[in-house]
Amino acid sequence: MLIAEPYRVKVVEPIKQTTREQRKRCIEEAGYNTFLLRSQDVYIDFLTDSGTSAMSDNQWAGMMLGDEAYAGSRNFLALEETVRRYYGFRYMVPTHQGRGAENLLSRLLIKPGDYIPGNMYFTTTRAHQELNGGVFVDVIIDEAHDATADLPFKGNVDLAKLESLIERVGEKNIPYISLAVTVNLAGGQPVSMANIRAVRNLAQQHGITVMFDATRCVENAYFIKEREAGYASKTIPEILLEMMSYADGCTMSGKKDCLVNIGGFLAMNDESLYQRACELIVLFEGMPSYGGLAGRDMEAMARGIVESLDYDYIAHRIAQVRYLGEKLRAAGVPIVEPIGGHAVFLDARRFLSHLSQDEFPAQTLAAHLYIEGGVRAMERGIVSAGRDERGKQHYPKLELVRLAIPRRVYTYAHLDVAAEAVIRLFRDRDEVPGLKMVYEPKLLRFFTARFAPIENEERAKVLMQERQLAQS
Ligand code: F0G
Repeated sequence: MLIAEPYRVKVVEPIKQTTREQRKRCIEEAGYNTFLLRSQDVYIDFLTDSGTSAMSDNQWAGMMLGDEAYAGSRNFLALEETVRRYYGFRYMVPTHQGRGAENLLSRLLIKPGDYIPGNMYFTTTRAHQELNGGVFVDVIIDEAHDATADLPFKGNVDLAKLESLIERVGEKNIPYISLAVTVNLAGGQPVSMANIRAVRNLAQQHGITVMFDATRCVENAYFIKEREAGYASKTIPEILLEMMSYADGCTMSGKKDCLVNIGGFLAMNDESLYQRACELIVLFEGMPSYGGLAGRDMEAMARGIVESLDYDYIAHRIAQVRYLGEKLRAAGVPIVEPIGGHAVFLDARRFLSHLSQDEFPAQTLAAHLYIEGGVRAMERGIVSAGRDERGKQHYPKLELVRLAIPRRVYTYAHLDVAAEAVIRLFRDRDEVPGLKMVYEPKLLRFFTARFAPIENEERAKVLMQERQLAQS
């Protein structure tokens, strides 16, 4: 049954469709990188679910109650109280967004030569770990790297992988385990409570800290309620509190599940870690009682946290994502299974099966989806994966295009229009030429890299070189 929007629209933001000719010009000017498009040239924006939520009337009302005192703002106290109550952590410092918290955590806990196991990498998270001399080690179950494997908790940690890492490098060289709930790049896949508990137990045996990337933890809680035995009658706040009880702290990008346009926090139970975080935050974010945010932003986040735990809100959110995914699946479009929490991921390997990974299939697909329907999506494949410390290209198994659904923003009609564009492109997929990279920035290249289409003769050359490389 269709779950209608559990809200009425009170303010509107006009959007406009463009012509195919205009879009071809726009994407060319943007170097075939959807990050470089102007938002005004986009009709339906599925680039990200980050910072793109619509705030409620209650949150906007809270904005007017911003206490902009340099220290001790009442909005900070409200946020601290809310995080304590719903996330269960004793201490919290606000940050300007998730990566601000990742920066603090990585600096506080990682020393050069350390290993940080995690259930699949995330771009900014891994970049901060590496910046501090750490090495990220992927300990997610193998199936998470297979777009077609349909499992209820595809974000789970493979405990054998984790155990063998501990054995290999020693518990002293693992400052913490980084557990993402849900796993963005696996397709928004959740982790089960049983797996979280098992990770906690194993970590405890070795005296290793567990830190969550809680960015989409409410979505994870919803999947546990829906899929895990024993949780159907528990409330979302109860499930979230139990999840968090197995962690020593978390980083949070409030721009996702806290329903705000900017903000985040680092939370923990350990008092001495909190004290050190308070010392460090002054350097990078601001006073521990505002951390790079205005008082009004903290108030909006405190209220957003409460709203995010409302069952009607989260059930509709997941239903919208599922609606889009099921529509695409019914038309034969290859997507990541099962459909995740915040986005539908197109499997670019199968969608553009005539392209090799060196022709950036996901980047190509995202660019052409924009040309087709003015729909903006994001590459999550070889471009996002980047290079290792020696400059060698990572070749991720997953080559995906993410259609991330902003929270409380679009209606089912928008999802229909976007689905139709994807389906049309799927029918004409053989016509789509691959891309070559013409500008490559050093760090987090996907944000600003530029591309150009590969012409036919050139393609033969590129493929020949690759074959020679593969044989050498
Ligand atoms: N962790 C996860 C799992 C994320 O998805 C993000 C951001 C961050 C951390 C960093 O948070 O952006 O507030 O600094 N993801 C966005 C996205 C950018 O589009 O998936 P941030």
